[in-house]
Amino acid sequence: MRYFKKIEGKRIYLSPINIEDAEKYTEWLNDLEITINLSMPHNTYTLDQEKEALKSLSQEGYNFAIVNKEDNKLLGNCGLMNVDLINRIGEVGIFIGNKEFWNKGYGTEAMKLLLDYAFNLLNLNNVELKAYAFNKRAIKCYQKCGFKEIGIRRQAHIIAGKKYDEIYMDVLASEFEGKIPNLVEQKVDQTRE
Ligand SMILES: CC(C)(COP(=O)(O)OP(=O)(O)OC[C@H]1O[C@@H](n2cnc3c(N)ncnc32)[C@H](O)[C@@H]1OP(=O)(O)O)[C@@H](O)C(=O)NCCC(=O)NCCS
Repeated sequence: MRYFKKIEGKRIYLSPINIEDAEKYTEWLNDLEITINLSMPHNTYTLDQEKEALKSLSQEGYNFAIVNKEDNKLLGNCGLMNVDLINRIGEVGIFIGNKEFWNKGYGTEAMKLLLDYAFNLLNLNNVELKAYAFNKRAIKCYQKCGFKEIGIRRQAHIIAGKKYDEIYMDVLASEFEGKIPNLVEQKVDQTRE
């Protein structure tokens, strides 16, 4: 088994990271069409670096492989950073590395599963993210998950001499409806029977 169903949705599930996927991640993280949307398009990733990175990501606890249920193939990665369990806040990041799966709702489904985990298992209250203003697909995906724009950092990202704004968005636990509470309800009902 390469992957394990930690949080399960309709078409995908979130699994612990498999460090044997380092080669796939290295391919994706050197693909400018993907990384132009992320914070590190200038970085070059070697297979060895990626093996190390995946090892530490897999041990940090809040990072997941996004896996297609139909064939158990890796689609991408998502996770929570800067988690503060006192103030109950965190930041999310996501990428679908398999570009054939862009624009088909997989990103939205994965982000909703990650928010379900964040709000209903980690008990976070506020989750934030940032996206570059040109990344309309990501912004639309985040809006569909309940994120609202909370501010703009102007001209914070420069590519090829052009300056782009960073859009900050957040969502509250009270604004998100996940599936995990239903699981608990079902258990309560079963114990009543
Ligand atoms: C961002 C990402 C996670 C979104 O996942 P996805 O599965 O492609 O997105 P979804 O299909 O769930 O939603 C995208 C929405 O944006 C819309 N969209 C796509 N291009 C658009 C554009 N140029 N302008 C406006 N809306 C656009 C789609 O139509 C879709 O909306 P709809 O379902 O109402 O039709 C994925 O595309 C990705 O990983 N991209 C590369 C890395 C990246 O950008 N990561 C995020 C960094 S902040």
